[in-house]
Amino acid sequence: MLLGVSGGIAAYKACETVRRLTEHGLLVQVLMTEAATQFVSPLTFATLSGQPVWTDEFTSSIGTPASSQDVVAHIDTVEQADVFLVAPATANTIAKIAHGIADNLLTSAAVAWRGPALIAPAMNYRMYENPVTQENLRALSQRGYTEIEPEEGWLACGETGRGRLASVSRIVSAVLRVLQERDGRLSGRRICVTAGSTREQIDPVRFISNASTGVLALKCASALAADGAQIDLVCGTGVSPELLAEVPAEITKVESAAEMKASVEEQIDGCDALLMLAAVADFAPASAKHKIRKGEHEVLNLELRRTDDILYGLRQNKDIVKIGVSLETEDALERARTKLKEKALDAIVAVDYGTDEAPYGDVSLRAGILTGEGEHLPMGLRTKPELAGEIAHLTAMLLNNKGRR
Ligand SMILES: Cc1cc2nc3c(=O)[nH]c(=O)nc-3n(C[C@H](O)[C@H](O)[C@H](O)COP(=O)(O)O)c2cc1C
Repeated sequence: MLLGVSGGIAAYKACETVRRLTEHGLLVQVLMTEAATQFVSPLTFATLSGQPVWTDEFTSSIGTPASSQDVVAHIDTVEQADVFLVAPATANTIAKIAHGIADNLLTSAAVAWRGPALIAPAMNYRMYENPVTQENLRALSQRGYTEIEPEEGWLACGETGRGRLASVSRIVSAVLRVLQERDGRLSGRRICVTAGSTREQIDPVRFISNASTGVLALKCASALAADGAQIDLVCGTGVSPELLAEVPAEITKVESAAEMKASVEEQIDGCDALLMLAAVADFAPASAKHKIRKGEHEVLNLELRRTDDILYGLRQNKDIVKIGVSLETEDALERARTKLKEKALDAIVAVDYGTDEAPYGDVSLRAGILTGEGEHLPMGLRTKPELAGEIAHLTAMLLNNKGRR
């Protein structure tokens, strides 16, 4: 994607936007106006995006040596992208784009652009409310731009009003939605993804759970959505509401393993694939009706019963692509291989927490992917966005092999 950054005080928020967009698997090419470079160094964007940053049509980009490709950067960059976002968009840049003025790299790219475009204004409320800015935004909207409207609140100039750049979550979510609506590899496909942990009540105020954060599942859901899939997200507990807000999905919230099972079984009918990435409790207590009083027990024995294995229960369903996770602290690969067969899965993500390299809940994990054909991805230490990208890619391949339902 292309991210145009213009010269407003909110340019610093574009740094976090780049970080989050790359975490959802997007390759972000940043274009900055000269004024934007007064607020944030191009080097910051080059580091966060892992891509050279373009600042000027007539000199080379920051973060890479000059090459012949630089000469027509505003055309080259435009041809390679799927979506164009301007955030923050100054009153000046909005006016220029609305009138087809192409006097810098960002505005030239905007004039050359033909695909889906989003614009996130950020300015003092008087600048935003000015009829000329509103007219320019209306003109852009009529030409297909999606405005990610600014929010009300405290502005950097010390005043309050509408003009604060939309939150990073809203911006990321808007980009992912636009990508989802494109013609992608997974357009027309519906995929059910489960995320987070489950919570098994001991009594009305206490529960057993685990430390799953849902990060892998949510990144996977957004990578699939960015490829055109419609996502039914069955979300357990422990998931960051901010991250959840970014994922373009129909969300069903559940708490217990039993609720998750019921919800998955309900969703599965209309789905082409099921990615069981949630950490579902294997054991649950029979919940006491009233709070267990400590005065009544010196030692408290909890009886835990096995919960139903959701994927095992669906082993006869051969119509959809099914991917599970096997998390072990011993013989991770061996056990994953057994579960792949027992549950009749198309693929399984084997996670090994037997080493001290990455604690549970860390951004990285030791994992690999197995399919019926063998090892799709060898065991290795990987970041969750990287692993999510691999799972999403494999899902698309498996769906492609299976054909349409
Ligand atoms: C400290 C400072 C903060 C500014 N913040 C904004 C802003 O938030 N929004 C805006 O539209 N203009 C803002 N401006 C004005 C723009 O920087 C100015 O209009 C500039 O020409 C924009 O250039 P560009 O659109 O090519 O990036 C600010 C200027 C200064 C000095």
